Amino acid sequence: MNDQPLKFPEGFVWGAATAAYQIEGGHDADGRGPSIWDTFSHSPGRVANGDNGDVAADHYHRFREDVALMAEMGLPAYRFSVSWPRIQPTGKGPANAPGLDHYERLVDELLAHGIEPVLTLYHWDLPQELEDSGGWGTRDTAARFAEYAELVGTRLGDRVPNWTTLNEPWCSAFLGYSSGEHAPGRTDPALALRAAHHLLLAHGLGTQALRAVLPESAQVSITLNLSSVLPAVTSTAATNAVRRIDGLANRLFLDPLFRGHYPVDVLRDTARLTDWSFVLPADLAVIAAPIDSLGINYYTPTLVDVVDPADPPADGPSPWPACRDVRFVQPPGPQTAMGWAIDAQGLRNVVHRVHDQYRPIPLMITENGAAFDDELGVDGVRDDERIAYLRDHLKVVHEAITHGVDLRGYFVWSLLDNFEWAYGYAKRFGIVHVDYPTQARVWKDSAHWYRQVIQTNGIDS
Ligand code: NOJ
Repeated sequence: MNDQPLKFPEGFVWGAATAAYQIEGGHDADGRGPSIWDTFSHSPGRVANGDNGDVAADHYHRFREDVALMAEMGLPAYRFSVSWPRIQPTGKGPANAPGLDHYERLVDELLAHGIEPVLTLYHWDLPQELEDSGGWGTRDTAARFAEYAELVGTRLGDRVPNWTTLNEPWCSAFLGYSSGEHAPGRTDPALALRAAHHLLLAHGLGTQALRAVLPESAQVSITLNLSSVLPAVTSTAATNAVRRIDGLANRLFLDPLFRGHYPVDVLRDTARLTDWSFVLPADLAVIAAPIDSLGINYYTPTLVDVVDPADPPADGPSPWPACRDVRFVQPPGPQTAMGWAIDAQGLRNVVHRVHDQYRPIPLMITENGAAFDDELGVDGVRDDERIAYLRDHLKVVHEAITHGVDLRGYFVWSLLDNFEWAYGYAKRFGIVHVDYPTQARVWKDSAHWYRQVIQTNGIDS
């Protein structure tokens, strides 16, 4: 430990991130239609405690207060998502004007406070009607997404400089359609592979649609949850498990985006589930069209081995197609309240891997953060563990930049406590505490700490 502060490059982008369904509430306000997360969270047994996003942090109605809070924190950038069913309640057709008006007001409020908007078009809230016609399992959804992208791009292109098509398509495909832990709750591994392709196609078509309407200076990106996958033991079988999980978690997305083809080993591994004939010849050029930056979300490393043949796994849905024999091993050491191992080296592995093997473009850490069992006291929330988590990961970001990785920014997940998907409100990721009954926002110590980081453009080492 030394006391030398680590300074970040001038212009490094500091931000915080949220997503529409997780904070907005206002589920039926101003003509919003239902999304798959409304349906899913209202289905008994899907979300812990029966929680849903009907009210959430009520950000839809409190966005001015929340932007004021961001300004007080000195946040230079804010990453948020647009709710597709506010813009197109059924997922198609003309825009619902009050929906677009809302995001224009939010963006104007951010700009008036000198905060750069970083807009994600799809953070998992597919309009329910599109799911009813096949969801991400069908090609048509990708075309619908491009129309939605065009509507938002046309309206906000003159004032939003940063655009992200999709957030974590791995989760949409594999948690949504294979394990069923996320909406729409399907458990069909072959369908999940189709969904992955149609999501990538949606990214490609959405990028085309955005390019056609945005000013040339606009930056277009996609955000992936990349995994650092390592073997739990030294064995040929574990090495092979690493290859297969890495294939599905990382290369299934990185290869088409940056090399214009799917990884042949993944196609081979999954051949008994699908022949991949849903990939049409022209799709890969669309998917691989250049983008301006890559967003990376990182939380925890992945350690794998294979199951003991004497002790086969319980049958049941899994997010990993054709990986029944793979076993996920809990790494030793400290964990967050999610039970996720804390290991910033995984972030190092991920950014260096992208830099060394793909060298695509500027990188942004679009999410990083941790849930802990925070306790609200009379004078706020003492969340030293969260501060330590963020500091450790920022050290890795700093070190990667020193080693030549083109890392341009960092967004804490999350600005506010929010609806943590299948975990509901029980898990708190915010640097600002939300008391849901009163909707009071209280800064945690981590928010004060982050403000200092931003002010000094550095961390204490
Ligand atoms: C990534 C997702 O993008 C976000 O919505 C979620 O809350 C965090 N991970 C934490 O699980």
